Amino acid sequence: MKSISTALALIASVEAGLRFPCSTLTFQRLDPVVEPGNTPSAHVHHIVGGNAFNASMSGDVGNQASCTTCQMSEDFSNYWTAVLYFKHPTNGSYHRVPVLPVQPLLGGSNGAQGGITVYYTQFDLSRDNIKQQPIKSFQPGFRMTVGSPTATSKQHVGLTYQCLTGNSRGRETADFPDKPCTGGIFTTHHFPACWDGKNLDSPDHQSHMFFTKRTDGFTNAPACPSSHPVRVPQVTYETTWDTSKFNSMWTSGAPNPFVWSFEGGKGFGTHADYMFGWKGDSLQRAMDKSECFYDGCGSITKQAMATANKCTVPDRINEETVGWLSVLPGQSK
Ligand SMILES: *[C@@H]1O[C@H](CO)[C@@H](O)[C@H](O)[C@H]1NC(C)=O
Ligand SMILES: *[C@@H]1O[C@H](CO)[C@@H](O)[C@H](O)[C@H]1NC(C)=O
Repeated sequence: MKSISTALALIASVEAGLRFPCSTLTFQRLDPVVEPGNTPSAHVHHIVGGNAFNASMSGDVGNQASCTTCQMSEDFSNYWTAVLYFKHPTNGSYHRVPVLPVQPLLGGSNGAQGGITVYYTQFDLSRDNIKQQPIKSFQPGFRMTVGSPTATSKQHVGLTYQCLTGNSRGRETADFPDKPCTGGIFTTHHFPACWDGKNLDSPDHQSHMFFTKRTDGFTNAPACPSSHPVRVPQVTYETTWDTSKFNSMWTSGAPNPFVWSFEGGKGFGTHADYMFGWKGDSLQRAMDKSECFYDGCGSITKQAMATANKCTVPDRINEETVGWLSVLPGQSK
């Protein structure tokens, strides 16, 4: 089936949904979803999106921001993950791993600086299926997380690592690569796409959503269950961590030296946060369009990444997050 749908996509060029770059907005210890009001939050995050980002966020974010690092200029959402650090195998010091713009398999990064590539798909990468199943936009105030920093084993599909070498992204794995990756480490976070239709959030930031994907990749999900009957966009983040300058310090045969900003155990603690902030009905307009090449058929406006790159937020924590650091910010040795 996979090869058939890929072939159809190439012939008809009907890639569905949205895919766009968002440059890095900031690296800070803030987390308005899991730890609202905490300055600082527990661990460092890599954040992209609108400039309403702050220690706590409420109300209609799309009306509060005035700029965004995302290519879609009506998207003032915030997207964030933990940050990858290199832990020196012999002296134990930490250095933050730089982020490179993702080079999507079709098309370039359009001048993004670092950042995350964001997807909102309706069904899978090549079909939208919206006649069978319309997609409802997230509502103002909506937020969610996927994954957990405390996980010590594989949680579910869709939270993956790939070892970039040459032209290959390699296979998707649930834990960090076990050998140096010349092109960096590629991380993917797929969010759940079934909503309970009532709650903009939940105490664990996850139970208002239901995860239906059963295999890695951009595969179509089974139908939503009656507990979470509303199909919302399938949100996915891709990040390229430029590990190249650390690879020579990864001594041959030594275990993986990369850790998340909360360190944790292995790579299973990979997680991501989402704060909805599209202006007005812009996301709904895009999701109602059929057979668009990742851009909503012109239903939403784009900005040059040179403009997006000018969007900033203040540093509210003012601590060194790059390195070499003897302790990760917020962590005890
Ligand atoms: C951000 O939060 C701080 C308090 O942590 C507050 O002083 C500031 O006004 C907020 N900024 C915006 C733009 O809401
Ligand atoms: C650990 O090694 C790195 C790379 O050589 C170096 O820059 C850093 O200062 C070292 N840390 C300590 C505590 O010696």
